Amino acid sequence: MQKIIILDFGGQYCHLIARRVRDLGVYSEIVPYDLPIQQLKALNPKGIILSGGPSSVYEDESPQLTNEFFNYIKESKIPVLGICYGFHLIIHQLGGNIEAQEEKEYGRTELEIIEPNLLLNFLNDRETVWMSHGDQVKTMPKGFKILAKTSTCPIAAYANEEQLIYGVQFHPEVAHTPKGNVILDNFISKIAVAKKEWKLENWIEQKIEQIKKEVGPINRVILGLSGGVDSSVVAVLLHMAIGDRLHSIFVNNGVLRKNEEIEVQETFREKLSFKNFHYVDAEDLFLEKLREVEDPEEKRKIIGHTFIRVFEKKTIELEKAYPDIKYLAQGTIYPDRVETSATSNASAKIKSHHNLTLPDDMMLKIIEPLKDLYKDEVRKIGLQLGIPKELIIRHPFPGPGLAVRIIGAIEKEKLEILREADSILISEIKKAGIYESLWQAFCVFLPLKTVGIMGDFRTYDYLCAIRIVESRDAMTANFAKLDWDLLERIGARIINEVKGINRVVYDISNKPPSTIEFE
Ligand code: XMP
Repeated sequence: MQKIIILDFGGQYCHLIARRVRDLGVYSEIVPYDLPIQQLKALNPKGIILSGGPSSVYEDESPQLTNEFFNYIKESKIPVLGICYGFHLIIHQLGGNIEAQEEKEYGRTELEIIEPNLLLNFLNDRETVWMSHGDQVKTMPKGFKILAKTSTCPIAAYANEEQLIYGVQFHPEVAHTPKGNVILDNFISKIAVAKKEWKLENWIEQKIEQIKKEVGPINRVILGLSGGVDSSVVAVLLHMAIGDRLHSIFVNNGVLRKNEEIEVQETFREKLSFKNFHYVDAEDLFLEKLREVEDPEEKRKIIGHTFIRVFEKKTIELEKAYPDIKYLAQGTIYPDRVETSATSNASAKIKSHHNLTLPDDMMLKIIEPLKDLYKDEVRKIGLQLGIPKELIIRHPFPGPGLAVRIIGAIEKEKLEILREADSILISEIKKAGIYESLWQAFCVFLPLKTVGIMGDFRTYDYLCAIRIVESRDAMTANFAKLDWDLLERIGARIINEVKGINRVVYDISNKPPSTIEFE
């Protein structure tokens, strides 16, 4: 499949560029800016985009491109588009001049197009664009011409048509540049002439064939199924490819939400006809290990380790019954692997808390069918595979579950209280029709008792906090400004219906500086 490669210079919008290109129908991948040239050539890009980044090109140790890179794009006639830092770097390395501006330019700006060009095709003479820079191109090397300017930035877009090098000072990938998609589309389809082959329907068919080939006709695959979006989609994809040679293990770790273990079993065993769905009830073991543990990181560690032990034990048991188990499937997705950072040699990293790392001596080969997909692509595929919508649109739920939503030591009684409160919250949020517009909505158990009155009686019960946030990617989040009547209804129901709670508070903190979860 033809692809556009994005060289990562540490820009915060790197993933956004890749997403936009894929949305336009061309497969894209992010690689570190200093990927060895042979590896870059092996990717066979139709076009290359240089991302923005926090550095200034004239600083010592700022990320730079190699001569081999410039030779490669020249000889192979690979079109290049530089954005922000990438825009400066091309000029800086090819002999032009970049200088710091006295004042940084940040925010919406009017772009004036001076010279009609393929890159800025279909744009009006004046368009709004999003700027965020402190440096400016002052002089350009031979062969480059100015395409556009703003009132404070005389060179805001350029082209070297002979060498197929283009650049924009502004950010076409962000929503604040309304015609940004047109510019990116011009680059990928008019300049790089990449075929629009990235369709999720094709992906599903190809992936199933690929899994069939890789696993072969006899081998079996084991999968830790949490019931979250990623592992569920992996499960259904594998089930379509190899049927009941997929063994899914679902562990009840005692810190799940209300009825979760029942719903996941129903979905996979009954609705999706999974025969080898193995339910492991390890509630007592987990709760015993967590007894009196108050420190959140300690809770996470205990849950992680205990999970691996339980999973390993079940796997060994299954391996005895099915010696053909040779693979371990994981729900790793693209952002789990690619951390964008220019300075840390943006190498692939696996988020350990999301993915189990089994002992090496288990000798299982890893299979990660979703490793090149973004979350919303995984969701779309899940829906196309016929996974129930409720499961696909579910809010993220942390691996350590309710354990990090009960402040301090975990007890069964507190878990019961939290489960009830949380299920009331979610049902009211769904009834109000806003569940899908929220990133997460949940209750937190605070081990503090306050005074209340119920009828003629004085009560002395626990506190429940409601946390509801809006976010795009969990890196930043704002508390949701819910309707007061809805909040009142939720609070009243929790206090009236959940024994043990007599007061409800709403968390109005944003991230940063607070986190989404409490612990
Ligand atoms: P914070 O609390 O760091 O959370 O703002 C960001 C996102 O990550 C989720 N989260 C976790 N997920 N294991 C997980 O699998 C964890 O230990 C964990 N801690 C936080 C959180 O729900 C939010 O979506």
